[in-house]
Amino acid sequence: LVKDQDEMNKKIEELIPTLPVDSDGSVQFYQFKGCWYPSFAIRGNIAADLHFQAQDSDIFLASPPKSGTTWMKALIFSIVNRNRYPPNESPLLTTHPHNLIKYIEFRHYLNGNIPENLDQLPKPRLFATHSHYASLSHSIRHSSCRIVYVCRNPLDAFVSLFHFLPFCRKNQPDMDTTYEKYCRGIIGFGPFWDNILGYWQASLEMPEKVLFVKYEDLKEDTVFEMKRLAKFLGFPFSIEEENAGLVEEISSLCSFENLKNLEVNRSDKPTRPGDPPANSFYRKGEVGDFVNHLNPSMVENLVTITQEKFAGSGLVF
Ligand code: A3P
Repeated sequence: LVKDQDEMNKKIEELIPTLPVDSDGSVQFYQFKGCWYPSFAIRGNIAADLHFQAQDSDIFLASPPKSGTTWMKALIFSIVNRNRYPPNESPLLTTHPHNLIKYIEFRHYLNGNIPENLDQLPKPRLFATHSHYASLSHSIRHSSCRIVYVCRNPLDAFVSLFHFLPFCRKNQPDMDTTYEKYCRGIIGFGPFWDNILGYWQASLEMPEKVLFVKYEDLKEDTVFEMKRLAKFLGFPFSIEEENAGLVEEISSLCSFENLKNLEVNRSDKPTRPGDPPANSFYRKGEVGDFVNHLNPSMVENLVTITQEKFAGSGLVF
């Protein structure tokens, strides 16, 4: 394990030139342990890999980009902290979900800097990541910490990504180039199939460690999925809480309509310099919007790729 910043910088600068690179025409990607990291995340990821020490009580939220991460951050935060903050006093009312559960690779270890305050975070510590299961640091995979994974039908995830990219790029990317890169797996934290399959396999092998959630299921029956989530996290809802309607209350607090309309989330300014605007994380929040943006041959092609990649895994979208 790397202990000080000088050693860390040296290791990072030695490693980066050895990594495969690609680009989407605007942002450069580096492939590390099978995952394509955008330039803004590669240093942080290497640093986390060389330094982060998971604790057994830690909770990780993992996801491919644009798959319901913001929603799941709100839900996990609310479920875990419900005794500290009842829904009507929730920090979510004034804080963007991304500032309540931060990404390990591009917030805590931003640009490869070793954070100082990780031990002081309230327990259980809550972290987020877009990394693949296989590229998580050793201590995350080998401690008893828990991982919630949320993902989404790749067609909707692609459409959501396409609408999000202009907020992170100087130039508006064109649909055909973005689609072609997506289908080849060269997108931030892609290939999407490896991102999804790694956590899927881990959830089958270690159901007590990895909970696999689909955005579509969460939309379909939010209360049911929330109870499953709370139980997995070790914070099950009691009968009294259920009878008092607390699950529904948290579900309403974290709903798309509610979060989207809060002042903190409505702003077209970033909550931190360099971040996408606060409101860019809330677009439509629907299942199946791809039909409005992809032509039939794009749909068919992406469905075929998905079926081929997921064949034999038992995973269907
Ligand atoms: P759309 O672009 O399809 O609307 P992520 O949080 O991983 O970046 O994913 C963003 C997607 O989740 C966007 O999808 C966004 O609108 C949707 N989303 C954000 N908050 C949500 C919520 N509370 N409930 C449902 N969907 C939500």
